[in-house]
Amino acid sequence: MKVLLVGSGGREHALAWRLARSGPHVEIHAAPGNPGIARIGHCHPVRSDDLEGLLDLARQLRIDLVVVGPEAPLVAGLADVLRHAGIAVFGPSAAAAQIEGSKGFAKDVLLAAGVPTARTLARVEAPCVIKADGLAAGKGVFVCTTAAEVEAGLQGAAAFGGEIVVEELLIGSELSLFALCDGTRAIALTPAQDFKRAYDGDTGPNTGGMGAYSPVPGISRADAQQLVDTIHLPVLEELARRGSPFVGLLYAGLMLTADGPRVIEFNARFGDPETQVVLPLLEGDLLGALAAAAAGDLSGVELGIASAAAVTVVVAGGDYPARGDSGSEITGLDAAEATGALVFHAGTAHDAEHRIVTNGGRVLTVTGVGANLAAARAVAYAGVEQIHFAGARHRTDIALIASNKETSHG
Ligand code: AMP
Ligand code: GLY
Repeated sequence: MKVLLVGSGGREHALAWRLARSGPHVEIHAAPGNPGIARIGHCHPVRSDDLEGLLDLARQLRIDLVVVGPEAPLVAGLADVLRHAGIAVFGPSAAAAQIEGSKGFAKDVLLAAGVPTARTLARVEAPCVIKADGLAAGKGVFVCTTAAEVEAGLQGAAAFGGEIVVEELLIGSELSLFALCDGTRAIALTPAQDFKRAYDGDTGPNTGGMGAYSPVPGISRADAQQLVDTIHLPVLEELARRGSPFVGLLYAGLMLTADGPRVIEFNARFGDPETQVVLPLLEGDLLGALAAAAAGDLSGVELGIASAAAVTVVVAGGDYPARGDSGSEITGLDAAEATGALVFHAGTAHDAEHRIVTNGGRVLTVTGVGANLAAARAVAYAGVEQIHFAGARHRTDIALIASNKETSHG
């Protein structure tokens, strides 16, 4: 079976790695991919926003299933272009991807589906959250608790152009909950916790995510499926009712508040870096499941989840999230893997001498798997310690609080 993965980040490397383990007859292609994916499959120099180029490539290679990583091509209609040409694709139509592409649309769908979310505020005053509508790669959200932060947030959100949304500040712990969807059915994957802020102690600006762990203590697999049944399913029903059924990965960003779970946002694709902890724990035929979802029938698909834990730590460029890094040589990748960690490439490239160099903000994600979060964390950080490039930076507190709780509970 030939799979074409669209994208070039750590999420796509983790998908390539996991799909390659789905069986002996899997052939992985990626567009454009990255140097990590190139060790698993074939990378093709077609950008993820080149819809016609991707269609041509899928036809040329006689691809059986296209799996789309990033949101932008989905919102631009890549899945529609491929489906129209008769090519199976795991990823929603442009219409269904509006659940991520437009915060206004998402609010409307949530309201119609009766799924609880943050209230939109009529007045802009602290405390509140100010968001740029539309895609902003996780960087268009400003949490404001003071008047000065409101001022800065308004300016920051305005810089993205377009509409601004102001909503109630939700208090609680966050959960990323992925579900594989075939338009009507949804299978919960293991819940994960993402670390959005740039610096230790959840300080600094929001980023695409600096690390993640799974499972989340206190949320069982049954709890996760129940959350999916009460949050994802009504949204699937509402999208189907509107004539745009959602086929792909529906990712709910939840806040577990004192009044119950509230949706912060939906994404129309796998999360990054959560995928780098969710997939290493997944048991069973992932490729078969994605193909079944793409074909519109997940009934009978069963996926297991290992009774282990995974922690991933993002190694970013020195100026991330303000700007990415390029051309700095990266060393220690083999040594990192030798510690037992999984090293997923995110923003890397080959230079003219075929050395691996930085090429982005989030450069690598290093995952450790272990019997519990503490063990997984130790493996991930042992890997991170081996990796070097000019300006390399990572958070030191990924999964720290959760792993301490785990040990104190025995
Ligand atoms: P988003 O891009 O909507 O996922 O927002 C990015 C991050 O901002 C979320 O992961 C939360 O940490 C935070 N955030 C967004 N909306 C809210 C809200 N209403 N209340 C509290 N935090 C929020
Ligand atoms: N880690 C957050 C996201 O993928 O949107």
